[in-house]
Amino acid sequence: MPIIAVINQKGGAGKSTIAVHLARWLQKQNKSVLLVDADAQCSSSKWLSRLEKDVPWQIIQAPDALLDELPLLRESYNWVIADGPAALSETTRVLVLTADLVMVPCQPTGVDLESASDTVRLIQQAQRIRRGEPKAVMFVNRAIKGTKLKDEAIEVLRLMPNVIVLEDVLHQRQVIADCYGQNATVFDLSGSTAGIAKREIEQLFKKALEILND
Ligand SMILES: Nc1ncnc2c1ncn2[C@@H]1O[C@H](COP(=O)(O)OP(=O)(O)OP(=O)(O)O)[C@@H](O)[C@H]1O
Ligand SMILES: [Mg+2]
Repeated sequence: MPIIAVINQKGGAGKSTIAVHLARWLQKQNKSVLLVDADAQCSSSKWLSRLEKDVPWQIIQAPDALLDELPLLRESYNWVIADGPAALSETTRVLVLTADLVMVPCQPTGVDLESASDTVRLIQQAQRIRRGEPKAVMFVNRAIKGTKLKDEAIEVLRLMPNVIVLEDVLHQRQVIADCYGQNATVFDLSGSTAGIAKREIEQLFKKALEILND
């Protein structure tokens, strides 16, 4: 079943946040889901290990191990979500060469947007080898409400070839930043701020899955 890899060479773009939330969101829909933590920092596996709900995870970082194991794991789960490292490493290459969909969160700052083109290049290389696969979606994460940066960022991302840039953005929200420390995802929290974040994230995930299934 599908493999979704969350990648971006830039640190702090929100890869682990997205990967953990996507895994938990799919699990809440009664899908069998595995998160593969391919980042040496192990943020997403640590995060999942502390959740009250049991979301399965495995740490697999070596490129060879990923190449061996991802094809087998996809047979055992409805969904495999891979959290990538903050590098254009062999590991990231393997994820792009194996995934059905890559999701690229990007912060709306000049330096992050500029370095996104390196990630896009890697995606294009894989698409040439794999006749168009993987599908790729980019989106702005950590957008600040009330600034124009978000729209400008979307315009810059739209110049990048072979990736679909989502209109939907994730805003910088304290409730999201607090999740790791609270051993939770927004899907496990109650309250109005969590509710707003949940809807925003869910909208983004639905759009990404539509593109995967297109
Ligand atoms: N939409 C958001 N609102 C608020 N905080 C966010 C949001 N997205 C991510 N963060 C916070 O930003 C920081 C970086 O996020 P995260 O660890 O998910 O990025 P990453 O791309 O996985 O980083 P790394 O490359 O270091 O693995 C974390 O503290 C996280 O809580
Ligand atoms: Mg991370």
